[in-house]
Amino acid sequence: MNYSELAYFGGEPTVKKIKPHLEWPYLSDNCINEVTQYLKDRKPLSIADGSGVVFELEQVIKDYFGIDYVLTTNSGSNALHSAYVALNLKVGSEVIVPVSTFHASITPAIHCGLTPVLVDVSSETGNISPSAILEAITEKTSCIVVTHMFGHPVDLNEIVEICNRHGLKLIEDCSHSFGSTYFDRKVGTFGDVAVFSMQATKTVPAGEGGFLITSDRDIYERACLLGHYRGRSARDVQDPFLKQFAETGYGLKYRIHPLAAVIAKNEFLQLEKRISERNRITSVISQGLEESNGIIPPIIKEYVTMGGFFGYRARYIENKLFINDRPISVDEYIGILQSEGLEVHRPSVPPLDQMPIFRHNYVGLEYANHWKPRLLEPYLGAREFYKNLISIPSFMSLDSLPLINEYIKAIKKVSNILSPVTLQYKVGQHTHGLNDERPR
Ligand SMILES: Cc1ncc(COP(=O)(O)O)c(C=O)c1O
Repeated sequence: MNYSELAYFGGEPTVKKIKPHLEWPYLSDNCINEVTQYLKDRKPLSIADGSGVVFELEQVIKDYFGIDYVLTTNSGSNALHSAYVALNLKVGSEVIVPVSTFHASITPAIHCGLTPVLVDVSSETGNISPSAILEAITEKTSCIVVTHMFGHPVDLNEIVEICNRHGLKLIEDCSHSFGSTYFDRKVGTFGDVAVFSMQATKTVPAGEGGFLITSDRDIYERACLLGHYRGRSARDVQDPFLKQFAETGYGLKYRIHPLAAVIAKNEFLQLEKRISERNRITSVISQGLEESNGIIPPIIKEYVTMGGFFGYRARYIENKLFINDRPISVDEYIGILQSEGLEVHRPSVPPLDQMPIFRHNYVGLEYANHWKPRLLEPYLGAREFYKNLISIPSFMSLDSLPLINEYIKAIKKVSNILSPVTLQYKVGQHTHGLNDERPR
C-alpha cells in the first residue's frame, strides 16, 4: 500500500455509488398506499377535534409509551412551545438548557418570557452535564430541559434527583431518541413532559410534525389550549377555569396535518423493526471503525439503548494518521474519505453559544429584549465533543449493507495507508499538482 492508492492522490475511489447515498425518508410501501387511499377516500384534510387518523396516531403513541396523554402538533418546535406554556413557568425565571442541542429546544422558552441558561455538556456523549446543571441553579431557576443527543439518553437518575431536590420541572426533548432506553425504561417517561419532532429527517418522519407526552392532566389541558382551539379543547379541557376559553384557546394553531398523521402512524408501527435494523447496521459500522486506526465509534454507556440512533457520529482520533510524518487534521481526514466516495461531513449544527441569535442582547423583537441567554462559558465539554466529530449517513435499511461494507473498506484502506506502520511512500512518485502537503 502507498499514498497513490488513495483517491485523494489520484487512486481509484472505493465507493463508486453516486450520491446521495441516503434514501430518505425511508417510507414503507404500506405507508405510501395508505396515504393514497386516504386521499382517494376523500377523508378530512383538517381535523380540529383530534378524531380520525389523529386519534389513531395518538393511540399508537400512547400504547408505545404506556402513557396517559399524547398531543400531536404540526412540528417539534411547536410541541416544545406547548410544553413550555403548559408548565406555566414564572415569567423572568431561568430555564437550564444544554449548550449543545437544536435551537428550537430553547427558543420557545424565550417567547414565553423565560431566560435560558446554557450549560456545558459531556465531552463523551454531548449530553447535558449534571455537574454543570448544579453549578447553574439559582433561586430563579424554574425548569431543566434535556436533549438526548443523537439518541443517547442523558444521565436521567442524576437529573431527576436534582429536579426533585430543587423543585424544578423537567422537559425531555426526545427528538433524536425515539425508543431509546435508560436502565430499560423508555426516555420520554422521566420528566414532567417530553417532546418529539417528526420532521422529515427523524426516526419517525411525518414530513412536518411533532407531539408531546405527559402523565399530567393539567399539563395536557394547557398544551391543548395553546394550539388546539374549539373542537379538541372543547372536548378535552375539563378544568372549569380553562374550559371557558376553549372556543379560542390561547389563540395559536398547532394541529398536525392529517396526511402527516397517516405517515406518522405507519412509521410508528414500524418503529421497533426500524430500531432493530438500525442497531444491526450501526453495530456493523462500529465494528468496522474498531478495526480502523484514527477513528472510533460513538461512546454508548452500557445501561442505555440507542433506539432510533438519530445520526451516527464517529470521532477522529488525532495523531494516529500521518502524511509525510505530519499528523493530519480532522478536515483533511474527512476530505480523504470524501475522495474515496463516502458521504461523510462535519456535523452541521454547532453549539448554540456560537450562534448570532444567542449572542445579541437585542434581536429585533421589542417584546423579547431578554433574548440573550445567560452564558456559562467556556464550554470546554462541548468544544471537545464537537472538535473531531464526523457524521456518517443514518443508513436505515438492511439493503444498505453492501454499501456500508464499502464504506468500511474505504475507512480501513485510508487507515492502513496513513498509519505510521505502513508509511512506505517513496519520495517523488506522485505529485498530481496538488497542494504542498501532499506527498512528493
Ligand atoms: C433536538 C431537537 N429539538 C427540536 C427540534 C425541532 O423540531 P421541528 O423541526 O419538528 O420543529 C429538532 C429538529 O431538528 C431537534 O433536533
